Amino acid sequence: MSETTERWSSKRAFILAVTGAAVGLGNIWRFPYMTGENGGSAFLMLYVLFVLLLGLPVMAAEIMIGRAGRRTPLAALAYLAGKAGASPHWRWLGLFGGITVFFILSFYSVVSGWSIEYLVGTFNGDLADRTPAEIGAAFNDFLADPYRMIFNHTLFLLMTMSVVATGISSGLEKLNNLLMPLLYVLLIILVGYAATTDGFGMAMRWLFTPNLAAINAHVVLNAMGHAFFTLAVGAGALMAYGAYMPEHQSLPRAVIAVAALDIAVALLSGIAIFSVVFAHGMDPTEGPGLMFVTLPVAFSDLPGGMIWLGIFFLLLLFATWTSSINLAEPMVAMLSGTGIKRSTAALLVGIGVWSAGLLPALSFSTLATIHPVGNMNFFDLVTTIPTDIFLPLGGLLIAIFATWIMDRDTAFGALGARESHCMLWLNLVRFVSIPLLIIVLLSGLFA
Ligand code: PFF
Repeated sequence: MSETTERWSSKRAFILAVTGAAVGLGNIWRFPYMTGENGGSAFLMLYVLFVLLLGLPVMAAEIMIGRAGRRTPLAALAYLAGKAGASPHWRWLGLFGGITVFFILSFYSVVSGWSIEYLVGTFNGDLADRTPAEIGAAFNDFLADPYRMIFNHTLFLLMTMSVVATGISSGLEKLNNLLMPLLYVLLIILVGYAATTDGFGMAMRWLFTPNLAAINAHVVLNAMGHAFFTLAVGAGALMAYGAYMPEHQSLPRAVIAVAALDIAVALLSGIAIFSVVFAHGMDPTEGPGLMFVTLPVAFSDLPGGMIWLGIFFLLLLFATWTSSINLAEPMVAMLSGTGIKRSTAALLVGIGVWSAGLLPALSFSTLATIHPVGNMNFFDLVTTIPTDIFLPLGGLLIAIFATWIMDRDTAFGALGARESHCMLWLNLVRFVSIPLLIIVLLSGLFA
């Protein structure tokens, strides 16, 4: 397979595209509920630490491979392995990433579908003037309705696959330019409101007062998985975007900008959501429904609250849309690399992901009594294993490939940074990220 000549239209467009991939459910939905379930500040501290020591350096490695190969993940790995005289089997890492994004997208589409339901519900007035208990009950009724779950999952996947079918579109770049900044503005307004509530002080203490006693192997593994998930690292999805990176752009600078923007969204959402939780005496360990129950309560206290809530779900939907497009891209690119037309590849991937998504979609109704492993249903399984195990494992292999296998000049050239910065990255990945990844993965798996 030959090199792609397609490029993002500018450096800024590349940063926005990667930020679009990074910012999504991970920041606004997953981060708050995982923090709630894993001891508040303990989880937050570990997550930030892992973003700095693992997420950032491996993210640079992953995008660098895409940029150096200028091909789909599978073909880039095969090409670069060949160039370094290494085993062609490294290409299977591309396939492993494809399997990982397949499972992630299957539940991602289901949960993003919940935002569609809530967006419509907001404008219908269904969520107005309800007590927290009523909002919680309505959420559970929704989960238990197989038809609404499947309908929204289908709609969201159609939105995603129709963009991926036509290639990375410039239309999306323009929307990104407009809607990403708006998301930040809205989150800042929400935090401003949260600061006026009684729950704000408690939320700040819960999030930022160190709580070392809550740390155990499980919390550590969850925080590591989350660091990869939130940055979209470990499955080759960013490798696919790196293939279109402009020629003269510093990769380390770009990934630092993206990580800062990504952490900001998580912190703003966390502060807003936990202020509401504590102000209304709600339960921080509520689980995956946390955001969908707290935000309607928060906004209903604000003047014009339902309009704000509607805008919020619209922006969330946009954020999840750009992430799901990134999740689908490597699968579609790899399939079309085998000679299949891009639109056909998108259709096939769409059908596969849709079918797999039925399992998490029906986990609260038709399949509620089925627990394939321990007391986990399909939804629990697919929201944990691919994120907490597959992404770090993929990240580990990517890190090894980038720093021990690839030819050093090629790697440094594709990083596009000063020699001293490249050396710093190399040593960080080799001697900090890789050993840390191995230790946390092993201790999490065998604890
Ligand atoms: N980073 C996305 C989020 O936080 O919602 C999710 C994601 C995208 C994970 C792409 C993995 C991936 F390859």
